[in-house]
Amino acid sequence: MLMPRTPAMRIVSPPGRNADADALAIMRPAHGAPAVQAEITAGLLAPSAAVSPKFFYDSLGSRLFEAICELPEYYPTRTEAAIFARYGSDIANAVGTGCTLIDLGAGNCAKAAALFPLLQPQQYVPVDISRDFLADAVRGLQQRFAEIGMLALGLDFSQGCALPDSVRHAQRLFFYPGSSIGNFGPEQAQRFLRGLRDSAGEDGGLLIGVDLAKDTAVLDAAYDDALGVTAAFNLNLLHHLNHLVGADFDVRHWLHRAFFNEQASRIEMHLEARHALTVRWQGGERHFGAGERIHTEYSYKYTRAGFVALLERAGFETARIWTDPAGWFAVIHARARDGA
Ligand code: AVI
Repeated sequence: MLMPRTPAMRIVSPPGRNADADALAIMRPAHGAPAVQAEITAGLLAPSAAVSPKFFYDSLGSRLFEAICELPEYYPTRTEAAIFARYGSDIANAVGTGCTLIDLGAGNCAKAAALFPLLQPQQYVPVDISRDFLADAVRGLQQRFAEIGMLALGLDFSQGCALPDSVRHAQRLFFYPGSSIGNFGPEQAQRFLRGLRDSAGEDGGLLIGVDLAKDTAVLDAAYDDALGVTAAFNLNLLHHLNHLVGADFDVRHWLHRAFFNEQASRIEMHLEARHALTVRWQGGERHFGAGERIHTEYSYKYTRAGFVALLERAGFETARIWTDPAGWFAVIHARARDGA
């Protein structure tokens, strides 16, 4: 990918490529196609079939997710945005300026970009599995904020985020908005946050958006909207699997299922076979009975106290919490705990 070079843009090329040939700091995923194939095959052949939600985000999936964020039923995005709009200066005062802003699941980078004038980061490091989508976003951003060094990482960070040396060590602030932490199970979330704590170092921190537990009807509607955008987002995963592993999923044979599991305090999303069918892909096949499901996503909803406790177990101390008037969503600033 060739792009115009700007002075503040660092260049990191994948091994074997000439750095000077690229003008955008994009790194490729650490794992290749065989690992993806093995992961998807294992999930599809598991007794209860499951596919990781990270596979939602091909180019169309990323755009569908953007559309979800504009739906009237999907409150998290606008509620979080209202918190940032209302408490932006307060948040900047708490966090300080000049950080190394590491934006996990950056997508179109819009949330972080809105904070640039307040936080004035020294370096901006957006990380996203959807490499091409990220590249487009960063290209536009670098032109608007030429003074900020940018290093875009096209990585799957769900198993840990090993950062290259070109990411500044000073004042690392992991930015993880949108309540994506809810897409990990609680133990996985703790491991993931512990990894961030270790990478943040003693002067580092975390600015994270967390969706809070609330009325079941509100949650059900947010994940099963009237327009069917979330259904398209869920079903598009099958298109992506067709592309990734040469599967022959026909989306017309599958239904979107989403509901709040109160006991586990999580949204569950599944794809349900409309009738008995067999799916084949490179390296496997599976018969699904009518009504059989593929689990595609959990979205955990926390209490404030529950999330603070999770942060503590992961080696952070909670510095500040900002919420909306209804208490539906929280933005939390946590600092690395000394010696943790
Ligand atoms: C990305 N993540 C926080 C979203 C969520 O709410 O769990 C993904 C999503 N799935 C369906 N709608 C939105």
